[in-house]
Amino acid sequence: MSSLYAEHLSILMQRADAALAKAGFDHLLIASGVEKYQFLDDRPYPFKPNPHFRHWVPLQQHPHSWIAYTPGQRPVLVYHQPDDYWHVPPAPPEGAWVEHFDIRIIREPQEAAAHLPRGRAAIVGEADAALEGVVPNNPPVLLNALHYQRGFKTAYELDRMRRAQRRAVKGHRAAEAAFRAGGSEREIHRAYLEATGHSDLDLPYTNIIGLNQHAAVLHYQYQSPERPATPLSFLIDAGAEVDGYASDITRTYAMHEGAFADLIAAVDAEQQALCRRVRSGVDYRDLHLECHLRLGGVLRSAGIVDMDPGEMVAEGVTSAFFPHGLGHPIGLQVHDVAGRHDEEGNEIPRPAGHPYLRTTRPLAPGMVVTIEPGLYFIPLLLERLKAGPQAKHVDWAAIEALLPYGGIRIEDEVACTDGEPENLTREAFAQA
Ligand code: GLY
Ligand code: MN
Ligand code: MN
Repeated sequence: MSSLYAEHLSILMQRADAALAKAGFDHLLIASGVEKYQFLDDRPYPFKPNPHFRHWVPLQQHPHSWIAYTPGQRPVLVYHQPDDYWHVPPAPPEGAWVEHFDIRIIREPQEAAAHLPRGRAAIVGEADAALEGVVPNNPPVLLNALHYQRGFKTAYELDRMRRAQRRAVKGHRAAEAAFRAGGSEREIHRAYLEATGHSDLDLPYTNIIGLNQHAAVLHYQYQSPERPATPLSFLIDAGAEVDGYASDITRTYAMHEGAFADLIAAVDAEQQALCRRVRSGVDYRDLHLECHLRLGGVLRSAGIVDMDPGEMVAEGVTSAFFPHGLGHPIGLQVHDVAGRHDEEGNEIPRPAGHPYLRTTRPLAPGMVVTIEPGLYFIPLLLERLKAGPQAKHVDWAAIEALLPYGGIRIEDEVACTDGEPENLTREAFAQA
């Protein structure tokens, strides 16, 4: 594993060399960040380090630390390890990565300044990480280049992402069992945490655990403690993290056979077909539009909308049922950087009428994207559809019967390769 990390670090150094040369800098300084406190209080918010910092070192709970890299030299890690008897300070650095750094331990945040090279330095971090004479400048030319490159995962990163899948799948299995046992959203959430070994604070994003109509809320943010009288459906969008790398998985379950269970199966079939289309050179925008067409086919086959799928897409009918984008790049961040920009930072436009699509750059080997079609019964959007000219093509009685089930989303992570795509999520489920 250490050789995977060594190769990863050497790729990061090559990318930094190129980005520094392009942007006209001699050094790359990366601040991990500082803890942020609640207003008028002494309670910090959970610390989330600068993702650029986590790209170089697998450290999560390390405010006031820095990476300093000068091309041709061993990278420096300025490691903040305070004398603190109120909290547990960071342990001494350990792991296979340590041998690759010149490590300088500091006790006070401002001591870092003495270890950071000056001159033409690109300083990446939030404004509040500034030290005397070391003020983050976040040069756009450098950041655009690094962000674009972050789209291409190293073998080390893919390894961590596969582990993050396996960790999440344990939670998904436990959550499904808790749903089938009649658990509340909160009970299901706790079963997920227990099975993954996560706490609420170190999840890569807040779990979405929706029973019945809550499954229609795209980013449903509560976990009700009430057990529903009649559990019908369950949508879980939940991930896990390994060494700073995220997974982001969604599954939808029906308690009983019937029209909603059939719809889940139909969306699942289309989702898997779309996953297989993740290939080098494919324009992700085309996949998104193809998804609309496929979902139009599902709506027609299910007898919900009586229109040609192409017309449904052209007239915005599918968007009433699928109002988000097909997916996004994922890695150090759940919604990873540079999904819609080229190496120079130029925006690659979304198709007209699709304002939430997060990925527009062409797929290439090493990229990992989510494929997450959905089909929801969202009262707000259905009311608009009902008020429009297409309402006459919709079977409103069928919709009425499906409203209590909320909706469906199925989400996997898929790695683009030189050949067949690798579905990281399905493989983790198959191994579990
Ligand atoms: N979990 C948020 C998303 O799927 O993008
Ligand atoms: Mn996602
Ligand atoms: Mn998700």
